[in-house]
Amino acid sequence: MAALAWLAACESRPAIRSDFDPGPVPDELADGERLFDANCARCHGALAAGTDSGPPLVHRVYEPNHHGDIAFQRAVTFGVRAHHWRFGNMPPVAGLDELEIGRITAYVRWLQRKAGIE
Ligand code: HEC
Repeated sequence: MAALAWLAACESRPAIRSDFDPGPVPDELADGERLFDANCARCHGALAAGTDSGPPLVHRVYEPNHHGDIAFQRAVTFGVRAHHWRFGNMPPVAGLDELEIGRITAYVRWLQRKAGIE
């Protein structure tokens, strides 16, 4: 029974992209990278590759057509009720304004493009 529950939980978490290497970050995205690392990487991982606490944002599910840039503004401002995976809810992240969230989003979009997700 416990083993079954564990299996089910595993299947509902996307794989961490441990071999993802996008190469050097362009200068104009350095701010977005810094803000992402300080505020988001704890759960979404370095290079948005995922951790045990949150999904990779470098994932088909988060491509621009499915989660537009407004989804990033909303997620950070209001938090996210768990609906795609079984990590639990994302709490709102305080201390970031719209511009800063925009910079984080631009950095994540760049990572996605490097991974072939557009
Ligand atoms: C405490 C952990 C945690 C932190 C910190 C965190 N997130 Fe999340 N985030 C999550 C989890 C978990 C989900 C997935 C919820 C689900 O759909 O099951 C998520 C989902 C998202 C989504 C998808 C929203 C949607 O509409 O489905 C976006 C975008 C996002 N996070 C961006 C960010 C950004 C940007 C930051 C930093 C400013 C951040 N997150 C910080 C845990 C976190």
